[in-house]
Amino acid sequence: MFKKTPIAAVAAVSLLLIAGGCAATNTGKSVAPQATAPAAAPAAAPAAPAVVAKKVDYTAMSPAELAEYLIFEAEGYDLKQPTQEGTTGRARLVQDEIQKACSLGKGKEIDDKSREKIMALAASTIKYPEGGIKLGDWKKGRELAWSGYGYRTAHNPDNHAKGTPGGNCYNCHQIATDRTGGDIGPSLTGFGKIRGMDPDTLKYAYDVIYNPHVYFACTNMPRMGASGVLSQAQIADILAYLFDPNSPVNK
Ligand code: HEC
Repeated sequence: MFKKTPIAAVAAVSLLLIAGGCAATNTGKSVAPQATAPAAAPAAAPAAPAVVAKKVDYTAMSPAELAEYLIFEAEGYDLKQPTQEGTTGRARLVQDEIQKACSLGKGKEIDDKSREKIMALAASTIKYPEGGIKLGDWKKGRELAWSGYGYRTAHNPDNHAKGTPGGNCYNCHQIATDRTGGDIGPSLTGFGKIRGMDPDTLKYAYDVIYNPHVYFACTNMPRMGASGVLSQAQIADILAYLFDPNSPVNK
């Protein structure tokens, strides 16, 4: 609706201008141009320009309003596109509580109360495997850690029947010495060798992978468990990759 309004309004204004122009030209040649033109303009113009100015004058929008406009109304993103989780593009853009709380404080130091709230929200999302946190298969974990496959949409959507979604860890972390990773997050090279494998350390790593906001409120790291990208078993495989002495991470 919002999307169509400015177009309709622009069309309406154009028509009015054309009509006004014609009227002026016609009457200009006749007796009383001044009397006809102003009379026509105020009668029809007030409503339409007000709508146009409000909807598409970017300079009058706050950064938040502009972002909302560009995302939801300007057709820059296909809101109807189907997603692998069975919703639409639009649903992905709706912020959950943690995202909202973090967006409010963007660019500012997060206050203690908000931090506590975010950490508590994050903690409530974490589910643990029956029988406790154990290491899985580091080779599977390596595959997952070095794969960014899955959940991408747009023109070439990932087909989950053809590949398992990965954890995308390599894009942000240096993980092992045999391959080069990203540096948005801290290096995880030698993780198990350096930190040991006691239950608290395993739980810490599990929690961070499941929902890192529980330790790092408003972090850039995605919530791989909480958002359903990785299963508990897959997280166990990635933990093995991080902790197993035979994994290249610890060589
Ligand atoms: C979009 C970037 C990004 C991705 C993808 C990402 N991380 Fe992170 N990770 C971070 C950042 C940034 C931090 C540091 C936390 C902070 O200060 O915000 C972090 C922290 C961590 C930590 C804690 C490090 C420490 O020194 O205690 C672990 C463990 C970790 N990530 C593992 C992973 C794993 C495993 C994956 C893949 C499943 C992953 N990360 C994917 C950005 C990312």
